[in-house]
Amino acid sequence: MILNKFFFSKKKILKNRISVSPMCQYSAVDGCPSDWHYRHLSNFLLSGAGLIMLESTAVEANGRITKKDLCIETIKQRNEFKKLVSYLKKINNTPIGIQLSHSGRKGSSMIPWEKANSPLKKKDSWTTVSSSDLKKDEHWPKPKKLTIQEINKIKKKFELSIKNALDAKFDVFELHIAHGYLLHQFLSPICNTRDDKYGGTKLKRFKLPLEICKIARNILPKNKIIGARITGDDHLKFGITTNEAVEFCHELEKIGFDYVCVSSGGIKTKTKMRQKEFFRLKIAKQIKKNTNLKIGITGLVDNLSLADKYIKKKYIDFVFIGRRFLQNPFFLYKDNFLKNKKIIKPPPQYERGY
Ligand SMILES: Cc1cc2nc3c(=O)[nH]c(=O)nc-3n(C[C@H](O)[C@H](O)[C@H](O)COP(=O)(O)O)c2cc1C
Repeated sequence: MILNKFFFSKKKILKNRISVSPMCQYSAVDGCPSDWHYRHLSNFLLSGAGLIMLESTAVEANGRITKKDLCIETIKQRNEFKKLVSYLKKINNTPIGIQLSHSGRKGSSMIPWEKANSPLKKKDSWTTVSSSDLKKDEHWPKPKKLTIQEINKIKKKFELSIKNALDAKFDVFELHIAHGYLLHQFLSPICNTRDDKYGGTKLKRFKLPLEICKIARNILPKNKIIGARITGDDHLKFGITTNEAVEFCHELEKIGFDYVCVSSGGIKTKTKMRQKEFFRLKIAKQIKKNTNLKIGITGLVDNLSLADKYIKKKYIDFVFIGRRFLQNPFFLYKDNFLKNKKIIKPPPQYERGY
């Protein structure tokens, strides 16, 4: 089943139900893809996965997490993405997606391998923004609470980035509404303490993410796939619950979204989230049961035998695998993961290696 073709609302056919999860590389040059991205993504094109998602890409410079994040705001950046996608498409026709994001109060960070969970030194930093002026963590600076005028500007940045990504010929477009980034900062009552049209009640917290989702859907032609990485649970008292996530997904469905990738946590550094194999299955299952969206799941889901079982049981539709692809981009060819020993065939050029 996991190897079966996957139809995205009859729009696009994936050759299987495995996607490479978006993974920041902190290797961009002025927001543009670098040689590293060409090399890194080419590996995934040869991995046998049915979909390759590019890392979180900022809609404006201040929406980057670090100074080395990708950004798709300017004409130069758009043109560099165009070149990258055109290069990747020459390798093979695996669909390629982009994840668009704004870091909000999680921006102006040091690169994790230089120092994890650390804001940039003052002289290198920028002022971050958020739904409220609550800090991400004790040792982080206060973000600036966005005014309505500033919110409108950010909506325009999303609009421009989606147009740029469309121009660059991506196949799949994903909005990042999870992991504690700006749209999640509006969604979650842990972070959003506003009392205007963007906060105070559940529907008001939903408002900005949904407005941006609508903008995106309206820009993209009907045959383009659009989805979101969502928060199925904040894993915190008074945070987003799965019931609320289901309600949010209903709204995405009404707008015409095709899929969600179920993630969770991240609105604060420490939560009650504990990672183990398929730890988000219960959340994903509940969302799948209550919506008609295609349901992806992420978080230790690389046991493909189990993934196969859960797809057959209709708990989920597809999986987004991250770290396993970093360890070995070609693991799918070696993994006799299914009882019937079916495997994904390597490209013909590599067949004699197996
Ligand atoms: C190096 C690295 C970078 C990541 N960057 C992103 C990102 O850009 N966007 C995102 O939504 N998740 C990001 N994640 C989370 C992964 O997409 C994935 O959800 C997570 O690693 C859990 O899946 P796994 O257990 O298969 O690794 C990142 C994870 C890693 C390890």
